Amino acid sequence: MAGGQTKIAIVGAGTIGLSFAALHLTKDPNCKVTIFDTRPDLQQYVDQHLPGYLIDVDHEACLKRLSVVSKLEEAVTDVAIVQEQGPEKLAFKVATWPQIELHAPADALLWSSTSGIPASQQNRDMKDKSRLMVVHPFNPPHIMPILEVVPSPETSQAAVERTLAYWRALGRSPVVVKKECTGFVANRLAFALLREACSLVAQGVVSVEDLDELVQTSMGPRWAVAGPFKSYHAGGGEGGLTNFLEKIGGTTQSCWEASDEDIRKGDINVGKKWQAEVCRQTDEAYRVIDTAERDTKTRKVLEAVGRS
Ligand SMILES: NC(=O)c1ccc[n+]([C@@H]2O[C@H](COP(=O)([O-])OP(=O)(O)OC[C@H]3O[C@@H](n4cnc5c(N)ncnc54)[C@H](O)[C@@H]3O)[C@@H](O)[C@H]2O)c1
Repeated sequence: MAGGQTKIAIVGAGTIGLSFAALHLTKDPNCKVTIFDTRPDLQQYVDQHLPGYLIDVDHEACLKRLSVVSKLEEAVTDVAIVQEQGPEKLAFKVATWPQIELHAPADALLWSSTSGIPASQQNRDMKDKSRLMVVHPFNPPHIMPILEVVPSPETSQAAVERTLAYWRALGRSPVVVKKECTGFVANRLAFALLREACSLVAQGVVSVEDLDELVQTSMGPRWAVAGPFKSYHAGGGEGGLTNFLEKIGGTTQSCWEASDEDIRKGDINVGKKWQAEVCRQTDEAYRVIDTAERDTKTRKVLEAVGRS
């Protein structure tokens, strides 16, 4: 696969699909990518939007290795990898995999980009469940190195190993999530912070913009260098995390308790009263985000820490 000429089918080419297509095309100069999507204007849409994702590479050389097709079977015949990022609907995923299975080579790796539908639910009607797993990106995948690899209990270890080898060869950072769980790991962490952030803004403790400023000038840069465990291990000095929890554990516990209580009191659930004010402040502060600027800065951060 990696090393030779890998053929990859991208099924569903929205935000994530185009970004993945760009990632394969730019990171592996030998691969061939075929895009399938049910959009009637697919070719025009790809021509218009894909070049924006192809950074620091010869566009023409990349696009020569790309084809756009209007039939699923045409996309998946003769490929080593089928990567699905169609609608986030169980019925779509359950119905699509058996069709893919019918037309793709028997040893093709089958990856779903889903943010939350485990492979063990998607594979319900498949004959061979051993090659399907979730490969969950952090948006945008052509910039973010992480890929959460989440096998179902029926996924074979060999398929997981081949998946890890592919991404490592491309210089990405796949992490295996050992058990299927709601939201996998990256979003569980991100949404825990989001909930606390919504709660603090809803209580009037801090504004949306100041909270973002706070994250960008503290946890943001810290976490690009070291995750929470490594960070607090450093924070504990020679005694590491054990010492940190001895020294600051009381405050840590108070924060957890206050957070539980505030979230309960403020009823910080999606669709509740707090939401209108938090969204109003966010709209007022940012209007429409310039994702090109976001991507350029994120790449510089990753380059600085040797992770691009
Ligand atoms: N957007 C994110 O931040 C993000 C991050 C990680 C994972 N994901 C996951 O990636 C998947 C796609 O998300 P997105 O944000 O790119 O969605 P999107 O709506 O931008 O793209 C979905 C694409 O699927 C196409 N489609 C619809 N029906 C189809 C069919 N039958 N066959 C093939 N293509 C079809 C649509 O035309 C569209 O282009 C979801 O499963 C989502 O959970 C999204």
